[in-house]
Amino acid sequence: MYTQALNNAPETGERQVEDAARMESFQARIDAEERIEPNDWMPAAYRKTLTRQISQHAHSEIVGMLPEGNWITRAPSLRRKAALLAKVQDECGHGLYLYAAAETLGTSREELVDQLLTGKAKYSSIFNYPTLTWADMGAIGWLVDGAAIMNQIPLCRCSYGPYSRAMIRVCKEESFHQRQGYENMVTLSKGNEAQKEMAQDALNRWWWPCLMMFGPPDAASQHSDQSTRWKIKRFSNDELRQKFVDATVPQAQYLGLTLPDPDLKFNEETGHWEYGVIDWEEFKQVIAGNGPCNRDRLAARNKAHAEGAWVREAALAFAEKRRARKAAA
Ligand code: 3HC
Repeated sequence: MYTQALNNAPETGERQVEDAARMESFQARIDAEERIEPNDWMPAAYRKTLTRQISQHAHSEIVGMLPEGNWITRAPSLRRKAALLAKVQDECGHGLYLYAAAETLGTSREELVDQLLTGKAKYSSIFNYPTLTWADMGAIGWLVDGAAIMNQIPLCRCSYGPYSRAMIRVCKEESFHQRQGYENMVTLSKGNEAQKEMAQDALNRWWWPCLMMFGPPDAASQHSDQSTRWKIKRFSNDELRQKFVDATVPQAQYLGLTLPDPDLKFNEETGHWEYGVIDWEEFKQVIAGNGPCNRDRLAARNKAHAEGAWVREAALAFAEKRRARKAAA
C-alpha cells in the first residue's frame, strides 16, 4: 500500500526534482484517461481531496436515510412502503460502498465516521430540510435523486478507480429511486385537489435546495479547477445544475405543477431554461450548520452510533476470537 509517510516526507532539493517528475507522469496518466488505483503513486493533494469528497458523499448517503426513513411507517400503501423501504436500504449500501472506497485512500472508517459525528465533515446540504408530508417522498425521489444522478453519472468516469466503480453500481439503483419518486408525484398531481396541492407544496419547498445541491457557483467553487484537471470532476457545478434544470422543467410541466421561480424562461438561442437567482446566503447558512434540521440530523446519527456500539463490539470480539482460533490451529 503506498504509505502516507512517503507522501508527506520533508521536501529536499532532490526530492523536489523527483516529485516534479512524478507529478508530470501522474498528470500524463490522468490525461491518458488511465484509472488511478489505491497502490499507485498519487500526489498527497489528490489523495486528500478524494478522501474529502468520497467521505462526504458517503456521509450524505447515510444522513440522507433520515428524512425518508421518517415516512416508512406512514406510507399510504404497502407498495409505496416497500419501494421506500428498498430505497432507504439502498442508500445505506451506497454509504458503505463509498466508505470502503474512501478507506482505500488510507483513512480508517472510524476516523471518517468520527468526522461526521463531531460535525467536522460535511454532508449534502439537501438533507438538512424537513420532510413535512408524504409528497416530500415523491419530491425527494424525483428531484434529489434526479440531481444526484446528474452529479453521479459523470463520477462513473472519475479518475480514481474505486470511486468510479462504486458509482457504476450506485447509479443503477439511483434510477429506480428517481422513477419511484416521479411515479409518486404523477399519482398525486393527477389525484384530487388535496393531493395536487400537497405535490405543489413539496415542489415549492424542494426546488431551490435541489439547485443548491450542485454546489456553489463555479466562480466560488474552490475545488473545481483542480478536481477537473485531475478528472475527478467531469463537469462544473453550474454545468450540472443547468443539465438538471433543463431535464426537470418538462417533467414538472407534464405533472401540471408550477416551478417556484417567476424568472424561469426558455432561451430559444441557447436551448436552455434560464432560472432565477439562487439564495447563496441560505446555502452558506445550511452548510455552516444553521439549516432547519442540521442539529436533528447530527443528534440522530450520534444516537444511532451510540446505540449501535454493542453491535460493533460484538463483531470485533467475534473477529478477534476467530483470529485467535486460526492462530492456535
Ligand atoms: N452540501 C454541502 N457542502 C457542499 C455542497 C453541498 N450541496 N456543495 C459544495 N459543498 C462544499 C464542498 O464540500 C466544499 O467544502 P469542503 O472544502 O469543506 O469540502 C465547498 O462547499 C466548496 O464547494 P466546491 O464546489 O469547491 O466543492 P466540490 O468540488 O467538492 O464540489 C460537490 C461539491 C459537487 C458536492 C462534490 O463534492 C461532489 O460531486 N460530491 C459527490 C457527490 C455528492 O455528494 N452528491 C450529493 C449527495 S449524495 C445523494 O444525494 C444521495 C442520493 O442517493 C439521494
